[in-house]
Order: sequence, then structure tokens, then C-alpha cells
Amino acid sequence: MSELEVIDESIYDHPKYYDLVFGADCAAEIKFITGCAAKHGSGKTNRMFEPACGTGRLLYALAKKDYEIGGLDLNAKAVDFCNARFRKHDRPEPAFVADMADFKVKRRYDIAFNTINSFRHLGTEKAARDHLNCMGEAVRVGGLYLLGVHLTPTDVPPSETESWSARRGHLAINTHMWTNSRDKKSRIERFGIRFDVHSPSRSFRIVDELVLRSYTPKQMDALIASSQCWEVVETYDFAYDLDEPIEVDSTTEDVVYVMRRKKKT
Ligand SMILES: C[S@@+](CC[C@H](N)C(=O)[O-])C[C@H]1O[C@@H](n2cnc3c(N)ncnc32)[C@H](O)[C@@H]1O
Repeated sequence: MSELEVIDESIYDHPKYYDLVFGADCAAEIKFITGCAAKHGSGKTNRMFEPACGTGRLLYALAKKDYEIGGLDLNAKAVDFCNARFRKHDRPEPAFVADMADFKVKRRYDIAFNTINSFRHLGTEKAARDHLNCMGEAVRVGGLYLLGVHLTPTDVPPSETESWSARRGHLAINTHMWTNSRDKKSRIERFGIRFDVHSPSRSFRIVDELVLRSYTPKQMDALIASSQCWEVVETYDFAYDLDEPIEVDSTTEDVVYVMRRKKKT
């Protein structure tokens, strides 16, 4: 069997492939986001915001449900891909290029969400705190911020590999993720990720490394407590089951923190 051609580039610079790998099934996330608004929100929920929105897979699904939506991402290729999908369907372009630790919005939102670990791209405590403060300015008092992160458990070994496949028409992608290194002191974790892309005309492999900051349950609690804007009202796992909230403890890995925007102290 011939070796695959290898491309050493950011997976985020390949929004078409990213969108297939991560966007195949958003239904559970969408049901969770809208369900959280009903269960934990206050007042009407019309406006929704996603920092680190990537290709806008969730934003597009929510726009189809008639929510007013907005989003940002650091990667201009992802933002272009996101906005192009909206243009194609005669909808206003919702996304802009910005750093989620340093941005402002013109009008506040009712609910914001940040799923699948994007928050962990912020490399320092200051950036993480600045992000929570920016989000506090972007969401109205009583509104919600749903923050999905993969924590580092302190009592059990963390999961080290994950593989899955996605297909759309003639395009098929097999994805594999693995741990390259974990540095407890600097809290920097490096994960290898590869997309094996197969189309009728070409097969190749994109190999990338994701650098993420780690959080134990205690470190996450301390960060949220240090922000003047947010209080945790409930926690769930990535099963996104609103009837099954979880208690975060030293063995927990996947958590969605449901935070409410409080009045600043
Ligand atoms: C795992 S993807 C998630 C995308 C999207 N939220 C989704 O659910 O499909 C992480 C995204 O975070 C973006 N990102 C990384 N650092 C960022 C930053 N400082 N500000 C804004 N976006 C950032 C990347 O460009 C990438 O699109």
C-alpha cells in the first residue's frame, strides 16, 4: 500500500475538512444550547453568540431556528468559510475575526456558548480571565455562558487517544488524536491530530499539533471564582443531557459549565 502524502498545516486552515469532521452532527449540541436557555436562562432568548466559532457549524444551525446570532474566530479562513455559508443562503454575515480574549460587541447577547475545548487555546491565566471579562461585557445580566472543556482529572489517568470518521458524498475523513506531551507545571498539553482525507481524485494526510492549556477541576473553579461576572449554576457532561447534571470531582473529564452573568461585585 502506498504511503499517504503528508501536509504539515493547521487543521483550522482547512475549514472544509474541519467542518466535515466536527460538524457532521450538531443536533445534540443545538438541543442542549436551546434547552439551557429555557431551563437556566431568564427573560427572552433571541440573541446568541459564539466566541471561537470556527466554521460556524453551530451558528448556522441556530440561525435556521431564527435566533439572531454572532460569532468571532482568530482564524480568517474559518471566518470566511462561516460567512460564505450565510451569504449563500441570503443571510447576514455573522462572524468577525478577533481574539476571544480581547474583543467587544455592539449589542449584548442573551446566551453565549463555547463548546469542544476552544477556550483551552488561551495559553495563560491572564488570557483566560480577560476572556471571561470580555464575555461578561458581551452577555447581558441574567444571560448565560455555556463553556465546554475537557478537564485534567487528578485521581484517574486522562484519556490519551481518540479516533473517529466522517463522510459527506465522496469525501471521507478519518481523524485520530493522541497526546504528545503534558507538562503539569506549565500546564501546556500538546496533542497530535491528523486528518486522513480521501476523495475520488486524491488521498492525503494533514498532520497538526494542538497546544492547549490544562485545567484541573480546582483550577477551573478558581478561575471562574476570580471573575467578577460569572457564577456557575449547573454542570453537565458532553452527553448534553439536561436531565442528567453532573457533580464535577477529581475524576471528571468532560464538563459543560453553565454560567450566569451576575451583576459585577
Ligand atoms: C476546536 S475549534 C472549535 C470551533 C467551533 N467552536 C466548533 O464548535 O466547531 C477551535 C477554534 O478556536 C479558534 N481559536 C483559537 N484561539 C482563539 C482565540 N484566541 N480567539 C478566537 N478564536 C480562537 C480556532 O481558530 C478554531 O476555529
